[in-house]
This record gives sequence, C-alpha cells and structure tokens, in this order.
Amino acid sequence: AQRKQIDEVLAFFRLTREQLVGVQDKMSAELEYGLKRTTHALATVKMLPTYVCGMPDGTEKGKYLALDLGGTNFRVLLVKIRSGRRSVRMYNKIFAIPLEIMQGTGEELFDHIVQCIADFLDYMGLKGAQLPLGFTFSFPCRQANIDKGTLIEWTKGFKATDCEGEDVVDMLREAIKRRNEFDLDIVAVVNDTVGTMMTCAYEDPNCEIGLIAGTGSNMCYMEEMRNIELVDGDEGKMCINTEWGGFGDNGCIDDIRTQYDVEVDEGSLNPGKQRYEKMTSGMYLGEIVRQILIDLTKQGLLFRGQISERLRTRGIFETKFLSQIESDRLALLQVRKILQQLGLDSTCEDSIVVKEVCGAVSRRAAQLCGAGLAAVMEKRRQDQGLEHLKITVGVDGTLYKLHPHFSRVLQETVKELAPQCDAMFMLSEDGSGKGAALITAVAKRMQQARR
Ligand code: BG6
Ligand code: GLC
Repeated sequence: AQRKQIDEVLAFFRLTREQLVGVQDKMSAELEYGLKRTTHALATVKMLPTYVCGMPDGTEKGKYLALDLGGTNFRVLLVKIRSGRRSVRMYNKIFAIPLEIMQGTGEELFDHIVQCIADFLDYMGLKGAQLPLGFTFSFPCRQANIDKGTLIEWTKGFKATDCEGEDVVDMLREAIKRRNEFDLDIVAVVNDTVGTMMTCAYEDPNCEIGLIAGTGSNMCYMEEMRNIELVDGDEGKMCINTEWGGFGDNGCIDDIRTQYDVEVDEGSLNPGKQRYEKMTSGMYLGEIVRQILIDLTKQGLLFRGQISERLRTRGIFETKFLSQIESDRLALLQVRKILQQLGLDSTCEDSIVVKEVCGAVSRRAAQLCGAGLAAVMEKRRQDQGLEHLKITVGVDGTLYKLHPHFSRVLQETVKELAPQCDAMFMLSEDGSGKGAALITAVAKRMQQARR
C-alpha cells in the first residue's frame, strides 16, 4: 500500500510524449509572441534584443576586465585576448556576495561590486589601469544598445531595492564614481547565455544557441533581424535573450504543474514569476524534492512520519547534493550518509525513496528543458527552410555540469522532439566572463571603425 502511495506522487512527474510535445508547441507560440510588436509587451517569454550581432572573427585582441554576476559565483576577471591564434588567457577571482547584500539596497550591492573590482585590481597589480569592461549580468534587461541595460525584474536569489527599472550600467558607473579611485570604460552588458554562446562560438562558428542550466534556466539564440520587429533593420542576425524562465507565467503549462511546484513558487522571492525556471533549474529542484519529502512524511511514508526542523529548512538540497544522491556509482549507504550530513536521519528504505524522488524531479526538469530547446531549434530550421539543421549549442551551468543524468536526458529529449535537427552540445569551458570580454572586444572594434 505504501508503494502505491509513493508511486502515485511520482506519477505526477512522469510526462508523456504528448505532454512534452504540448510544451514544445506552447514554447514555439510564446517565442513568436515575444518577437512581434503587437504582442511583445505582454509576452511571458520576453525575447529581449541584445544588440550582439557579430561573432568574434579571431582579430580581437587586448586586455579586458569582465564581471560575472548572477550565477553561483560572482567573479571579477582579467581576460587577455591574442589575435590570430584565438588564444585567451584569463585570471579570475571569486568573491562572495552575502545574502544581506543580494537583498539589501541597490547602492550597497553596486558598492560591494566596485569594492571587489578594487580588490581584484589591487591583487593583479593593475591599480589605476583604465581597461574596457564587459559586464555579464545574468538577469532580464531591456537593452537599447550594447552598453545599456535596464533591469526588468530580479530573478533567482536577488532582490536588492531600487534597481528594477534602472540601467545597471549607470548604477555601476555611479558606484565607480562614488568610490573615486579608478575609471573604467564599460563597453557591454551581457546575459550569461549570450556570454556562453560567444565563448563557444569563438571556437565553433556554428554555435548559435547559448543555454544555461544552472541556478537559473535560460536560452539565447541568433535570430534573423527581419523577424525582430522591435529593432529596425532587416539585414543579418541579432542574438535574442529569450528569458524563457518566465514561460508559463500566463498559466499555459498549469496542466503539468504539481501542487509541489505551486508550493515552491509560493515560498520563493518572486511568486507567480519564472514558473518554467522553477521546474527546471538548480535553485528550485531541491526545493521541489523537499516539498515532496514533506508530503510523503506527512503521509507517514518517510522518516517515520516525523518532519524534522531540517526538512522544514529552505534550500537544504543544493544541486551538488542532488547530483551526489543520483550518482549511479553511489551505494545506498552513501546516500544515507549524505542525508545524514543534511541532518536527515533516514533508514535504508527512506534513502531509496529519496533517490527516486530526486530522479523523478530532475528527469522532468531535463525533459522540459529539452522540449524548450527543441522548439527553438525547430523554429530555426523552419525559418531557414532547411530539411535538416545542424547547430551547436553552447552550454553552461552547475546543473548541466554536475548532475549525472541531466545532460543525457536533455539531449535525448531534443533528439526525440526535433528529429530533423542535429544538435552538438558544447560545454563552455571558462564561463561567460570570457564571452563578455569577447563581446567587449568586438564592440570596441566596431566603435573604433565608426570613428
Ligand atoms: C557560468 C557563468 O559559467 O555559468 C555564470 O560564467 C553563469 O555567469 C553560470 O551564471 C550559470 O551557472 P550557475 O550554475 O553558476 O548558475
Ligand atoms: C535567470 C535570469 C536569466 C539568466 C538565467 C541563468 O533566468 O533571469 O537572465 O540567464 O537565470 O543564469
């Protein structure tokens, strides 16, 4: 009887092929709404123009600073690009952003960022250097140019006040001015998906999609200018930051959302927003697992029916724990150990159930992400009138990199749902900071050409 109850819960997470095709079709429709002038303002998949039009051509060179804010780590980087042989050297330092700062005031956040830049310049012996800077800022920004980005709304774990509706480049400039210690030439603001795509495109020009499966979930791709109604001009292509994390915010995938998804959403910093992201990304998968475990415990099916204080604690199941628990090489005893480390006292049967729950949640995440990706690839194939599309997808993010099954299930789903597309997945080696530097280099080159 216990088994039956557990299976009933897990069944909510098993998606049929029809359901996945349904998700793919809805994503296709949302991509179109976001691109059209008449529907753009209301679109949940925002389809933001990035003003990144060109790919690096190998002639880029010079020294650049890059900031990388919004993922697991905040980094400051120095990137040296050598032309000709496409070689890039990087030096970087990771800085912590304390929770009080992520959720304090905007001024405090940007002062902290500038403090970290100052430390880094000091550390590198570059005090006083005036370098061009590329800012990877992994949140939805409305751009009217490559060096302007108005934050639409915070996502993931950030909630600093007085930033939404403001230009983050201006905020950074003002914080640099307040400090009055150095001057930097902020050339580009870039989403992490775009940085990732660029990093991979530097090696493989066929890379026209950037995917992040990490703390958050998002995708960018190269779109024909003639399809982007919000930007003048019909020639060439521009990268679109889809912000697909907001897919479903209009209720269009409510049929597959479970009570656990609803609970995770309601307990988050941005209820009602980023519903697809909350079903597919590292920051939330562990929370879904936790909600299921609480429910199973309430039903007396786990942990001897005792809901511990630990289990009530938000955020205990980080991506790295989920990844460990699901590792096939791990004996159940080790799963129990991990649970113990998390403060959850489990029996052997408990750990089997926990592992099954983790598996169901992460598999659904990878399939949903695959359905989204299949929608974009099919769109690109059809738009170009191709029988077959060959395309490279640049990918980054802890979920993709650390989880033992996520990447495989994602790729299988894409193959199944978009059989006429041939996707090559390319792991972005050095994160999006490198991409931001490359974009900065391209932008600088174009600036100089205009003069
Ligand atoms: C990194 C990028 O490579 O991937 C970050 O440099 C990005 O900017 C990140 O946000 C996504 O992964 P995660 O898992 O750290 O959110
Ligand atoms: C969130 C952000 C998005 C970012 C993604 C991955 O969805 O809104 O801009 O690309 O997380 O970090």
